[in-house]
Amino acid sequence: MDIKQLLKDMTLAQKAAQLTQFAAYVLDNTGIEQTGPMQALNVTHEDLHTVGSIFNLNTPEARKAMQEAHMAEDPNHIPMIIMQDVIHGFRTIYPIPLGMAASFDPALVEECAAMAAREAAAFGIDVTFSPMVDLSRDARWGRVMEGAGEDKHLGCVMAQAQVKGYLSEGLQACVKHYAAYGAGEAGRDYNTVDMSETQLRERYLPPYKAAIDAGARFIMPSFNALNGVPSTGNKLLMQQILRKEWGFDGMVVSDYSAVGELMNHGIAEDEADAARLAIEAGCDMEMMTTCFIHSLEKLVADGRITMAQIDERVETVLRMKQELGLFDAPEGHGDPERYRALEVCPEHRAIARKAAERTAVLLKNDGLLPLTDTAKKVAVIGPFADDPGLLGFWSINGRAEETTTILQGIRERLPGAEVRICAGCPADLVTDDESGLQEAVELADWADQVILVLGESGDSSGEGNSRAILELSQAQLALTKLVTAHCNSTAVVLLCGRPLAIPAVDKAAKAILCMWQPGMEGGHAAAALLYGDVAPCGHLPMTFPYVTGQCPISYDTYITARPVSDYTHPEARPYCSRYQDAPVGPLYPFGHGLTYTDFTLTEAKLSAETMTADNAVTASAVLRNTGSRTGTALVQLYTHDVHGSMIRPVRELKDFARVTLAPGEEKTVSFTICEEMLRFETLDQGFASEKGAFEAIIALDSVSGEKLSFRLV
Ligand code: GLC
Repeated sequence: MDIKQLLKDMTLAQKAAQLTQFAAYVLDNTGIEQTGPMQALNVTHEDLHTVGSIFNLNTPEARKAMQEAHMAEDPNHIPMIIMQDVIHGFRTIYPIPLGMAASFDPALVEECAAMAAREAAAFGIDVTFSPMVDLSRDARWGRVMEGAGEDKHLGCVMAQAQVKGYLSEGLQACVKHYAAYGAGEAGRDYNTVDMSETQLRERYLPPYKAAIDAGARFIMPSFNALNGVPSTGNKLLMQQILRKEWGFDGMVVSDYSAVGELMNHGIAEDEADAARLAIEAGCDMEMMTTCFIHSLEKLVADGRITMAQIDERVETVLRMKQELGLFDAPEGHGDPERYRALEVCPEHRAIARKAAERTAVLLKNDGLLPLTDTAKKVAVIGPFADDPGLLGFWSINGRAEETTTILQGIRERLPGAEVRICAGCPADLVTDDESGLQEAVELADWADQVILVLGESGDSSGEGNSRAILELSQAQLALTKLVTAHCNSTAVVLLCGRPLAIPAVDKAAKAILCMWQPGMEGGHAAAALLYGDVAPCGHLPMTFPYVTGQCPISYDTYITARPVSDYTHPEARPYCSRYQDAPVGPLYPFGHGLTYTDFTLTEAKLSAETMTADNAVTASAVLRNTGSRTGTALVQLYTHDVHGSMIRPVRELKDFARVTLAPGEEKTVSFTICEEMLRFETLDQGFASEKGAFEAIIALDSVSGEKLSFRLV
């Protein structure tokens, strides 16, 4: 396709439409415009049939029909890009991305992304609005469920794995939301972000870059303002960093109505101003508002924007269509027959189940788990005991009737037992309705075993679903206290899209298994884990606080001049960085996760006490399985820069390894520490390492491990 010639042939109105993306519902399955949405968007038939892209098809057949109708109507016969939110599965729904990050298993994440891509590509999707790589330390934010948690290294590893998986099956990736969307004030969605450029570059930007380096050719600016300028009109982000420093030459597509919302932010007076700001900043496509369609002609006529600036955007869009092969094959990888054979096929279900098993994190186990499967009377109690909300937010094409709930999973696993259920209390986030407690107590008295299913519903996290209270409801807490008192074999299954503050549950329950929102196979996975068919091997990608007031909280904090750790007797010196009414540390730390055996890490050592930019050092330790079952440990490597030109985190994750050992087996686990790992945004030397004292820590979570000293010389 001769793109330069195509640019010459297009009118300005056609160019404006080419830079616009609508949801597919604006057209019907065959591409006929729907009057209502057209009126709401105030667009013409010509606008509609020259748009650059649509998203959220609703049938696999629609791709071919809509594309054909569109190209027949478009005077330039330009194919549309078809996009969709494929976030944790397309039709076969696996655990939410925060759960997937808990696997610390990039191969598993890649396998799941590839499965999702197989289904989505056959359905007719060219690009997914994924991976979402927004780092976050604030569990109040509902969209932590979509990301990889609080750590940039894990975030980079997960971003790369998802992009590789998508690309391996012909689905392109749109990394989002650029940038720092997860640092919104007060944990509220869409809220303002203000941070130093040092913090932005050092902690928040690397996962976006990792996704681009892995091959993502699309990127979506975030809704939030960053340091006073909304991302959608932010030249530092989109021109200086993305295009100039990173050399990104792919396509920038706005978030839903984000161009129009520049007016809400108060930096655009009208649609024309919004269009100008977005185009100048480098936004190539406007999703679901019509500032470009309504304003570009006037902006050019008034000399407020040049045709060259518009052509640069249109050329990018056309080049991406060429890269996707759409000019030669407008149907993309769409193949309804192949899709029907793939959707929720047994092989895909098996992958979803494996993922649900490997993402579960055993938070606590006082010897209760695994349960014996000879029990004859089992009670499944709690507001989420039989809730198909296991699918989680962004499970657009998931179906409740295809989902195995916790109750169903337990019943299938224990065919010889009587398994009864009661909710015990409402699922509301805040409720003190204790009217169901008596029935729950009677059931707990009857049962040999209780599976107590607590947490939050699948639609209590995700977009727009921030919370100011991470504690369970009064009713859930009362239920927990009573049920654990009335049945000595009560295991808690926690379903959540974010860390929750559950100290009272930790105090009352002997065992707590966090399963996030585990997807359609959650019930089968829960039963397999609880009864020991498989052992838990997940670890926390995000810190669990004691109390909401600790948020934002993360492991890689700065020591301050008065760390509470130095003042173990507050009465002696209250003047330290502490709370009067809560601990400073977490309930469960980043990297924490138990299994059905025990491990020790000993004989930690370094290959040398000094290293240079050319000579790396090796850190090693001996991992032993001292328990009675085979298990998988997550051995984590952290480093600490003892002195720097800027304050440095108490520790930072640099590498990790999942190691499976049989009982009694041991293995030396080694990590290479190279100079690049020690670089940071220095005070005045840019991104570099600084010579001096460092510590290496090999540990099984982010609060333990022996410190090994070495120097970079
Ligand atoms: C939403 C989300 C974004 C998603 C887009 C399209 O508002 O912010 O993540 O990809 O709209 O559905």
